[in-house]
Order: sequence, then structure tokens, then C-alpha cells
Amino acid sequence: MTAVLVVGGGGREHAISRCLARSARVDRILVAPGNAGTGQEERCENVAVGAGDVAGLVALAERESVDLVAVGPEAPLAAGLADALEAAGIPAFGPGAAGARLEASKAYCKAYLDALSIPTGASATFRDATPALAYLDQLPSVPVIKASGLAAGKGVVVAETRGEAAAAIRAMLVDGRFGEAGREVVVEERLRGVEVSVLAFCDGAGFAVMPAAQDHKRLLDGDAGPNTGGMGAFVPSPVATGELLARVGDRFIRPTLEALGEAGTPYRGVIYFGLMLTGAGPKVLEINCRLGDPETQAVLPLLETDLFEIMLACATGSLGGLTVEWSQSACTTVVMASAGYPTAAARPAPITGLDRAEAEGCVVFHAGTDRISGVTHATGGRVLAVTALGSTLEKATERAYAGVGAISFEGAQYRRDIGRRASAAVTGAPPLREMAGG
Ligand code: AMP
Ligand code: GLY
Repeated sequence: MTAVLVVGGGGREHAISRCLARSARVDRILVAPGNAGTGQEERCENVAVGAGDVAGLVALAERESVDLVAVGPEAPLAAGLADALEAAGIPAFGPGAAGARLEASKAYCKAYLDALSIPTGASATFRDATPALAYLDQLPSVPVIKASGLAAGKGVVVAETRGEAAAAIRAMLVDGRFGEAGREVVVEERLRGVEVSVLAFCDGAGFAVMPAAQDHKRLLDGDAGPNTGGMGAFVPSPVATGELLARVGDRFIRPTLEALGEAGTPYRGVIYFGLMLTGAGPKVLEINCRLGDPETQAVLPLLETDLFEIMLACATGSLGGLTVEWSQSACTTVVMASAGYPTAAARPAPITGLDRAEAEGCVVFHAGTDRISGVTHATGGRVLAVTALGSTLEKATERAYAGVGAISFEGAQYRRDIGRRASAAVTGAPPLREMAGG
């Protein structure tokens, strides 16, 4: 009897749970807290323990004698969930707090990247507004303003004017917007180019790079509107050539993992490099300590190797004994969000058409959903990730949008251009030729 505990309740965790349910080796999947989608997956059951409740999760894992804990979100990792599980002798898929700090503190991450000479935008970190504003004044161009701490993907302001940048600095350091997460602010050179997410499974020493995904961070078509957690993704990214992935593995991922290993904090789980492919080559925008959301919903459907085997190998340092194989198909996932996302909450609204989307050949991963009186409701934030495979990116995208067209709930917002501007999802991108050589 093999049991896995999946921590989290978003679309990423639904995709993880569903992929684990395909494993012949897994008998039982507990999802804490899960959502309406995970509650309906085969062999899955939701457990009412919050993803932030480290002690409650360890107690649950012990009580249910789980063989592996797969941690979806960053917050429990940053709070030391993997360390606590290790102390209890339970294999964890996810890094300890030391590794998770690369995501939990952007200031620390920038210092780490600079120390390892890994290319990233020039930056400075501040705790007071006056020197931050003085620094802003002497910069040649308008920078990006980032709350250093965890802010659910919403703590980054890509300002268009100096005034907007100054307002963001004041909002974080004077008005306390983002609370603790914004007490330290990174002022960073704005990079231009194509954005790609390169993720790798890691076992403390070795790693296996996944096919690269392209996320769509802005709320609106054409990369307009505010930044969000991600409105859709597709795999593979046409700009992430084998050569690029090999280079990112050698020059970005390997040195990072080696440094963490040498510090006595071997990194296990997924490391996620958010990159900008600039005219001067790939540069790091961020490091995340977990699978991406919604990248996971587009990546895992392409995985051909048993996810449980991979996660256990990562947790126990034996990834070298596995070959991680991927389908050559393409996959597109389109996020449907509630009215008001990413700023305001929405009241629960019934969802129709989920079965019709599945009849179109889509898999619908749930995020902000709940069963109310037996009916699946949208409960706010990112609600669904409508996902489809295809032999080409165009086919996968057409099918995903057929599914989106079948689904409705009050106030649903989604982008119409996911996967449709593939290599051109950019502002001022350099020619591809230049990027490959970078
Ligand atoms: P982060 O959480 O640091 O990745 O930032 C979220 C998003 O903001 C990224 O995915 C980019 O779209 C954008 N962003 C972050 N840093 C920069 C930068 N230095 N230049 C341009 N865009 C950025
Ligand atoms: N999709 C971006 C992230 O997971 O951080």
C-alpha cells in the first residue's frame, strides 16, 4: 500500500495529483487541502489541512504513514516543511528552507546569482525609501520594482515611467503594501526579450531538465494589464532549443545546485529558472523552488515516466538511476480566472460546461473551485486551467480554446492569445539567431 500526500490546492496540485494517479505504484493520494477537482480524481481524497500548516501536515503524513510528500507551493517550503519531514524520516519532494530561500527572498537570490556570476539584471536592494528613490533617479532607464518576499507572484511592478517606479517604491517601503514581503525592495534593471521557464527535477546532486514552458504573466491579451500568477502556458517553447537548455543546465542550474550542496543544504525537488532571453543571452528573472503554476498543467501531461518514481528518486538522491522521458507532443493550458482577479475577490458562481470541455478532448484542472450543494462553483482567483495536447502547438491550442468556449461562469476572464504568439510573446525581442549565440 503506497500513499502520497500532495500539499496544496491549486491547478498545479490537481495536475500533480492526476499524474500521480496514473502511477501503477500509487494506491492512495491525499491532497491537503485540495480542491473540487482533486476531490474527484481516482484514488485521491482531500484532507482539510491547510498548505501552510507545517505541523499539521507532518502529523498527517505520520498518521497516514505516507511514503512521500509532494509539496506544491513555495510558502510551506520556505517555512521548513521539507526539513520537518526529513526530521520525521518521511521522504519529501521539495527543498528545505535553505534552498527555498532562493524564492522566498529575491534580495538573497540576486546576491546568490551575483556571487556565482550567473547572468541577471543589475540590481540594488533597499529597506528605506529615500536611498531607493535616489538610486532610481540616477538610473539610465526605468527599472522593475520587486517586493523581496513572497507575494503570490504579485509583488513585481514592471513600471513604464519613473513616476510609477517611485510610487511602487513608496507603496512598498512607506505604505507597507505587501506587508512583510515588501519591507525589503529590489530595484532591478528591466530586461527585454522572450520569457521562458526552465524547470528541472533535482535529487540533491544531479538534475533532469524538463521541456521548457512559456508562461503568460500579464492579465490581458498582448501582454497588457497587471502581472498575475500566470494566465496560461504552453510547452514546448519554440525558442528553448536543445542548445539553450543544455547551456542553462551547465551554467545556471549546475552551479546553483553545487553551491547549495557545498553549503550542506542539498537541493531536492524542482528548481525553476524564470529566464529572459535577451540580446546578450539568457538572464535570470527569478528562481522558484517548486513547479510553476500554470506551467505544471502544460508540462506534466507530456511526462511519460512515472511521476511517483521521479519524485521518490528526487527525495532519496537516486535520480541518476532513472531516464525521464517526455512525449514529443505539444500542450497548451489556458487559465480561466474570476472577475476581479488579480486584485479583488469574487463571490462564488456556478460553473457549467466542464463535461463538454472534456468531450472536446480537454483536461480541466481546478484551482479556485468548491463543491457547493453538489455543484462545482468558481470561488475566486485563478479558477480553472483548461488543457489540451496536440501533435503541434497550433492543434493543442485550438483544442484548449474549444474547451474554454464550452465552459462558463459569471465574470470569467481569460486571455485569447495563449500559445498563439508563441515565439513572439515579447516586447522588443532580439532576433532568434542572436539569442542562440548570446
Ligand atoms: P518575478 O517574480 O521576479 O519573476 O517577476 C514576475 C514577472 O515580472 C516576470 O515573469 C516578468 O514577466 C516580470 N519581470 C520580472 N523581472 C523583470 C525584469 N528585470 N525585466 C523585465 N520583466 C521582469
Ligand atoms: N507561473 C509562474 C510561477 O509559477 O511562478
